Amino acid sequence: MSNDASLAGYYRWHARIYDLTRWAFLFGRGRILRHAARHVVMPERILEVGCGTGKNLVELAEIFPKAQILGLDLSKDMLDQARPKIRRHAPRVSLMQRAYDAPVAIGRKFDLIVFSYSLSMINPGYEKVLDICREDLSARGMVAVVDFHESRQAWFRRWMGVNHVRMEGHILESLRHRFTAAHCEVRHAYGDLWRYMFFIGQ
Ligand SMILES: C[S@@+](CC[C@H](N)C(=O)[O-])C[C@H]1O[C@@H](n2cnc3c(N)ncnc32)[C@H](O)[C@@H]1O
Repeated sequence: MSNDASLAGYYRWHARIYDLTRWAFLFGRGRILRHAARHVVMPERILEVGCGTGKNLVELAEIFPKAQILGLDLSKDMLDQARPKIRRHAPRVSLMQRAYDAPVAIGRKFDLIVFSYSLSMINPGYEKVLDICREDLSARGMVAVVDFHESRQAWFRRWMGVNHVRMEGHILESLRHRFTAAHCEVRHAYGDLWRYMFFIGQ
């Protein structure tokens, strides 16, 4: 089974409990958007790759009231949860169901592309996704990422693997390789059970 098909299957059930449970460990989601607002001036078009249940789309719509915002996700079940949340911002905020396996921009590119806890789930393929992202960014475009970074606890890394998450420090390395960092930060969660990271780059 492909990683995309396996993730879609995983979220068939998890979509229903996602918003109730993920606040306890997907840290920094609001913070990365507020940071992005300091670095990206009046973005006209914003893309969130792996927008899930739409929490960030609503916040992006409030932070950037003039921007056109597209949320892309491969999971129909996650987008079904997002749809009612973004309704009051439609058509400025819209959704697209597909895997991010090719560029999305037709003509005008994106001034900001957000990855919030999606890159750590794209295994294999995160490097290709970052290359696609570069193609989708406008000349002044920036990428903003918040995600799991690493854990020194092997049992925890294994458990996260069961939940499709790879946390081996690989994302930050790939980001630094492709983008010039404007902001880069690693924080600890629950003591030092794991670390999560923020990256904004051009
Ligand atoms: C942990 S959730 C994060 C959702 C949201 N960004 C948030 O911060 O709450 C990861 C999401 O990425 C989506 N995803 C994973 N791989 C993807 C891919 N290759 N293309 C599009 N979406 C993907 C999943 O379906 C899931 O909804």
